Amino acid sequence: MMINWDDPLNISKENNKPIKTLKESYAKSDALNNSFSQSEQRGETITDKPVDNSVNNFSKTSENTSSDADNKTIQAVKNSSKKAPAINFNSDPIKASDKRVINGLADVNQLAPFKYPWAWEYFLNANKNHWTPLDINMAQDVHDYQHSLTDTEKHVYENVLAYLTTSDILAMRNIGLAVMEKMTAPELQIYQARQVYEEALHTWTYQHCIETIGLDQGEIYNRYRVVPEINAKIQLANRRLDSILRSDIDLTNRDELNNFVMAYSFFAGIFEGCWFYNGFTPIFSLQRRGLMKGTAEQLQYIMRDEVLHASFGIRVVKQIMLENEVTLDPKAIRDMWDESEAAEIGYAQYILKDPILGYTSQDHTEQFRFIANRRARQLGFEEPFPGAKNCTPWLDEQANMRKEKNFFETRVTEYQTGGALDWD
Ligand SMILES: [Fe+2]
Ligand SMILES: [Fe+2]
Repeated sequence: MMINWDDPLNISKENNKPIKTLKESYAKSDALNNSFSQSEQRGETITDKPVDNSVNNFSKTSENTSSDADNKTIQAVKNSSKKAPAINFNSDPIKASDKRVINGLADVNQLAPFKYPWAWEYFLNANKNHWTPLDINMAQDVHDYQHSLTDTEKHVYENVLAYLTTSDILAMRNIGLAVMEKMTAPELQIYQARQVYEEALHTWTYQHCIETIGLDQGEIYNRYRVVPEINAKIQLANRRLDSILRSDIDLTNRDELNNFVMAYSFFAGIFEGCWFYNGFTPIFSLQRRGLMKGTAEQLQYIMRDEVLHASFGIRVVKQIMLENEVTLDPKAIRDMWDESEAAEIGYAQYILKDPILGYTSQDHTEQFRFIANRRARQLGFEEPFPGAKNCTPWLDEQANMRKEKNFFETRVTEYQTGGALDWD
């Protein structure tokens, strides 16, 4: 069926159903005009509505405004015969050197000149990596789930999906609501806008897997609330997110800035860089045995996005630290690794209560430590788990797979120009 892109839900068709009685006609008009006529009767126009600060919580411009100030502004607009006051733009070209990652004063609506050309490169590269979950054949997965997986393997599969679905929404909210608005260089925000889209795409992917396999959606989505080991990881991330998702945050305050840097380090280095990176591994271990290959291929695409998210975030964190001479408390960093490790151990022991062929909870946690060391080096921190072993060396191959045909017996997984990219 052809889609009407101007009205994809056929709303106009719905609204154009013939109206049979006068009463029905009045009811319909009233519903359509309800809010407008009510405000008309009060002598208001749309511009007279007080600003709803709950909606604008994340807008910098709302941070220092009160409803009194809003009302004065509205009155000023009314007094000038409904013309908006002229904005005094400085017409001098902006200089790249004026830009800052945070707390910058350069015009955020002007992309070039770039101060952070690497951020623009990330955006261009991210756009070379596009797929939708509908591109990947899931038919064999349905058969595998119903006829080949053991109960232990089903437990792993379902709980990995349950963790990932909740996590990716959290990742989207973090970058889109808490991080992006604090950036004061548009080239950074543009990549992060792409990242927000990708996190939404990942959620669509999990939903597609859940739907296709025929799992109980409500039950899967609710698992993070009822399984303490999944909940512990989500709560850890939620605590970091809540601490920076506030309209009154002031990054010129050193404590607030340090907290923001710690939160971004956590999300880029651990949440995306370790927990996501390592989080797909149980499914990849099934894939290596020829099981759930459609799901695994979906996760390979996601994994590549996550590698970019992690490395971009780490780069931003380091730039903030450099520009603002931030020194983090070593104990706070140590605590971050320790609580992340504890949460990951609990999670691994739950999803892999019983080992599956070729993969155990010890493998999972050791791999977490090994990847954590890598992220720490990238962040410029000390290795938190010296000597951790790379016990699943094939994991990096999963992330870096480019054009290898029949690798792990899956079909060719190839981004449009993914072969040109360094994924780690
Ligand atoms: Fe994601
Ligand atoms: Fe991500």
